[in-house]
Amino acid sequence: MAFPTETVYGLGADGTSPAAVRRIFAAKGRPGDNPLILHIAMAADLHALVRSVPREANILAREFWPGPLTMVLPRAASVPDAVTAGLDTVAVRMPSHPVALALIRAAGVPVAAPSANRSGRPSPTRAEHVLADLEGRIEVILDAGPTGVGLESTVLDLTVSPPMILRPGGVTSEDLERVLGRVELHPAAAGESVALAQARSPGMKYVHYAPEARVVLVEGDQAAVAGRVRALAEGYRTAGLRVAILATGGDSEAYSGYDVWRPGTASVAPGGRTAAVAAGLYAALRDMDRAGVEVIIVEGIDARGLGLAIMNRLRRAASERILVGPGTGEEQDGSR
Ligand code: TXA
Ligand code: MG
Repeated sequence: MAFPTETVYGLGADGTSPAAVRRIFAAKGRPGDNPLILHIAMAADLHALVRSVPREANILAREFWPGPLTMVLPRAASVPDAVTAGLDTVAVRMPSHPVALALIRAAGVPVAAPSANRSGRPSPTRAEHVLADLEGRIEVILDAGPTGVGLESTVLDLTVSPPMILRPGGVTSEDLERVLGRVELHPAAAGESVALAQARSPGMKYVHYAPEARVVLVEGDQAAVAGRVRALAEGYRTAGLRVAILATGGDSEAYSGYDVWRPGTASVAPGGRTAAVAAGLYAALRDMDRAGVEVIIVEGIDARGLGLAIMNRLRRAASERILVGPGTGEEQDGSR
């Protein structure tokens, strides 16, 4: 059953039943070695799922649960292998969406749930995205309208010291540092590609969040970025391709004359511009695909706060990344 959380829609099943959990993998077409998050409705339910609860986990639960923080901890023997993909750890979070909490309470078990998209597609932030990806493959979608955060939860590994962010999300590294002191960022969490041997989270190995269009991400000095984005758009247009610009900045004049998409302008996000971009990013990527856009040129955003989660997703979706320096507009980094 698909259900809303405050981050993205999830595809839930009884997290104590290996058979139910296997059906999630089948519906999504998800590789069997990529483990799932267990969702609980009360922080105290964490104890039954893990071997030990470190002091930091209690502090974090008090501070950020319910909310978009997933903690990776040593798993209890009772957690099915199908959930953890055979790992010695388990990922647990308590979502804050009232519908998610009601569902978990009614289920009476921890609910195993990945994002409710076909594997490799952008996560769903609306029920219609779930339908587009999984119609005919699942029975029920609980529709509660668009999700709030719009990007998946922060995944924090608490089995290492200092704790390590495996995936940036709604709880920022600044938030975590404020509470824990020191926190490390896995290179993949910044969006860098990592060798398989370095992948601490199986999800890091897979291409993610990718629309069908070719995504070209331009990062770096703000003023230089706009110039490079325009030059690229012009080049692709001249080549006869349907090109559109995904604009994250506030300057509405910068790209006049081009097909410009601005994620999140329709939604009123209390957290300002960055929160609005996060909330609307996946919907924009899906809408651009549907509109037949062939090349998406993305204007990068400052990778601080929630911006880090946005850039992580964009870097992973991009088939080409261009880094420009101040003044020059010079390319400093190639494609991957
Ligand atoms: O916001 C979210 O987290 C959403 C909603 C539905 O809760 N869920 C979600 O699940 O994004 P999913 O499966 O799409 O992403 C879970 C990520 C994957 O990258 C997976 O590899 C990682 O968490 N993960 C799960 N268990 C892990 C573990 N034991 N150790 C390390 N990484 C783990
Ligand atoms: Mg996912």
